[in-house]
Amino acid sequence: MSKRFYITTAIDYVNGQPHLGHAYEKIVADVIARAQRSLGNEVFFLTGLDEHGQKVQQTALGEGKSPQKYCDELAADWRALADTLKLSIDDFVRTTEMRHKGVVQAILSRLEASGHFYKAEYTGWYSTKEETFLTEKDRRADGTFDPSYGEVIELAEENYYFKLRREQEWLIDYIENTPGFIQPSYRRNEVLGFLRNNTLEDLCSTRPAARLNWGIPVPFDPSYVTYVWFDALVNYISIPAAHGDPVVCSALGLATEGAPGLSLWPADVHLIGKDILKFHAVFWPIMLKAMGLPLPKTLLVHGWWQKDGEKMSKTTGNVVEPGKVIEEWGVDAFRYYVVRELDIGPDGNWTDTGFKARYKAELADGLGNLVNRSLSMLKRYRNGVVPRRSDELAPDAEKVVAETRRLLSEYQLQEALETIWRLVTRGNQYVDKTAPFKLAKDPAQTKRVDEVLYNLVEVCRILAVLLWPFVPETSSKIFNQLGVAGAPDKLAHAAWGGLPAGHTIGEIAALFPWREAKPTA
Ligand code: MSP
Repeated sequence: MSKRFYITTAIDYVNGQPHLGHAYEKIVADVIARAQRSLGNEVFFLTGLDEHGQKVQQTALGEGKSPQKYCDELAADWRALADTLKLSIDDFVRTTEMRHKGVVQAILSRLEASGHFYKAEYTGWYSTKEETFLTEKDRRADGTFDPSYGEVIELAEENYYFKLRREQEWLIDYIENTPGFIQPSYRRNEVLGFLRNNTLEDLCSTRPAARLNWGIPVPFDPSYVTYVWFDALVNYISIPAAHGDPVVCSALGLATEGAPGLSLWPADVHLIGKDILKFHAVFWPIMLKAMGLPLPKTLLVHGWWQKDGEKMSKTTGNVVEPGKVIEEWGVDAFRYYVVRELDIGPDGNWTDTGFKARYKAELADGLGNLVNRSLSMLKRYRNGVVPRRSDELAPDAEKVVAETRRLLSEYQLQEALETIWRLVTRGNQYVDKTAPFKLAKDPAQTKRVDEVLYNLVEVCRILAVLLWPFVPETSSKIFNQLGVAGAPDKLAHAAWGGLPAGHTIGEIAALFPWREAKPTA
């Protein structure tokens, strides 16, 4: 069985409701997954939830619920968001599932048997909120710790440590010699800078069950549970193992059941936010090497969204709730905006004004208008029947298709949208320049009207195919309005000349009706 293109997102903590930042990451991953399918590749797209650890335990207990009950309730909301966002996921992992916990325990046992852990006592300053010991470097100039660490307590504790120290050199070499491993390149430089200037501390991989019991029990010492990051990172291979991935199962000595499994590992893309880069670029590769597994091909690191120039925060109520925006403006407007506004890498800023401006100029007046007037004119002047093929816009379309194909395969999503919009703009200018509504009044211009209309509707068809990864509902609507059967989900169908003469289009409706936002209460 050939290996699938395997893409993952970070798995979200379930200690609250999803906001724009979580939704953004999942949409970006979905666009890449759909783009790969459109390019003709088989894909496996995984997302899910990180349910263990102190944060979840504290929030659950604060609400008077058992952690499991709390997770089950919230998991339903997060899972529903994946549908609302139209994520084409192949699986959804919850780290409280047996299929995941069993793999984490198998890994712990193997690594313990091969001498990767040792037990030691450590005394230090511990942030309960971040679940991590802080070092002297984390102190501010006045000697205190940043309030974002929450309560910081002095703690002496025996734990199991995972050996990292001796791994630094090969990791530096690997990152230096594998330029595509961490993208964008400034994030790669950040990791290299960190590794060159610091000595890695061994990773405290357990927590005493007496202090924190909401975790996966350590198989060789039941008085401990697994550190939440050691548990969470494993989701990227526990789910392949559950699907019988031969590489993962053989490295971990896990039995595969009869039928050949899916070939997924190594992952092609781990999409993550900039705040969790160290876990993915330092701890995870070292864990994988210890297990005898190949490293993922790419860590694709995105930036953070703010709202109105401020950090999004539940306490101040300064959050963008994806569900609300989608209810008002539609899922494709939301998907389009976040990918068009923010390239993968830098930080971004959401403003309602910016969102509405793009909706109006690019979706309603740009794409929506082009499709609507092209199809309406075909209905009005040719009774909805496609005329003889004409190739006037073919060179423009072919250029855009070729460029989009390249950009999609390089995960350059923002630039791909800019490129696709060149064709939208070209189409609208073509209408203005050729003015078929004037030509149609002159019987001597029949042939010219046929030509113009063919070019317009064929551009609309090609746009539907190009846009599928980004705005799948809109693409399907365009295909429906064109009366074209099947889904616009293969880039191979973006070749010029797909609409046959004599084909009759379907019902027309506005794609992005423009309206002012309802006044907020
Ligand atoms: N549970 C860990 C990840 C474990 S992955 C093995 C975690 N969870 S999280 O819920 O805090 O964050 C999940 C993802 O959402 C991260 O990639 C994080 O960067 C991203 N974002 C959270 N807030 C964000 C913004 N404001 N903007 C963009 N992305 C943000 O970390």
